[in-house]
Amino acid sequence: MSDYARAAATLISGAGSAIAFTGAGISTESGIPDFRGSQGLWKRFDPKMATRTFMLESPRVFWEFYAMRFEALARAKPNPGHKALARLEREGILEAVITQNIDGLHTEAGSRRVIELHGNIRTSRCDECSSTRPTEDCIREVMEWGKVPACDCGGMMRPAVVLFEEPVELFEAALRIAQESDLCIVVGSSLTVYPAAFIPEAVKSSGGRLIIINADPTPLDGVADLVIREGASDALTGALEALGIA
Ligand code: APR
Repeated sequence: MSDYARAAATLISGAGSAIAFTGAGISTESGIPDFRGSQGLWKRFDPKMATRTFMLESPRVFWEFYAMRFEALARAKPNPGHKALARLEREGILEAVITQNIDGLHTEAGSRRVIELHGNIRTSRCDECSSTRPTEDCIREVMEWGKVPACDCGGMMRPAVVLFEEPVELFEAALRIAQESDLCIVVGSSLTVYPAAFIPEAVKSSGGRLIIINADPTPLDGVADLVIREGASDALTGALEALGIA
C-alpha cells in the first residue's frame, strides 16, 4: 500500500462531508480521450468546434464532430475509478460527484448524486424549445441523410451539453454543495476551465481540504493538502484499500 493511499485515507476518514470533482482524466481509462493531456482532443481538433458560435455557423460540421465524440463515448464502460467513487458514496463517505464529464459513466458506475456541470451527450435538445431526443437518433439523421437534426418546432437539435460561450446552469447548485463540504477529491482535471474549476477552490476557501489525483500538474497543486501523481483508478482503489473498503 503506498504512502499516498494511506495519506488519502487519513484525509478521507477525517472528513465530515467529502465530494469528488472529476474531469476527463477519470474516463481516459475507459477509452475516452481527455482534452489537454498528452493525447488530448484539443491537440487534434480546434476547441472552437465546441463553441456555440461554431454550432450556429457550421451546424453540419459541428454535428459530425459530436458524432465522432459520441462514437467513442457510446462504447465506453465505467472503470475502477468510477466504481471506487460510487463505492465511497454507498459507504456514506462521499456526498456527491460533481463532474465536468458528459459521458454519464459516474451514473452508470452506480453513483447516485451526480452533478453533470457540462451536461450529458446521450441526450440532445432543441436549441429553441428544449424538447429532447436521444443523441443516437440525431446522429443517425446526420450520418445517414446528411441532415442537421431539426425539432418539430423548426429549431435545431443539439447535444444537451454546455458549449463554450454558454452558461453552466448547474454551477450555483454545485457551488452550494462545495461550500458545505470539508474535503474535495479532484480526479483527472487540469483545473483550467471556469466556472467549473471554482468548485475545488470553493472547498479550500471555505476551510476544507483538497486532494488532487492527476497525471499532470494543475494550478491548484500548490494549495492542495495532497497531490497524487498517479492514474485515477490506481489512486482511488489504493485509497479504498487503505480505508479497509475492499
Ligand atoms: N489518471 C489521472 N489523471 C489523468 C488520467 C488518468 N488516467 N488521464 C488523464 N489525466 C489527466 C491529464 O493529465 C489532464 O491534466 O486529466 C487531466 C484532464 O484535463 P483536461 O483534458 O483539461 O480535462 P478537463 O479538466 O475535464 O477539461 C475541462 O474543458 O474542453 C472543456 O468541456 C470540456 O469539461 C471539459 C473542460
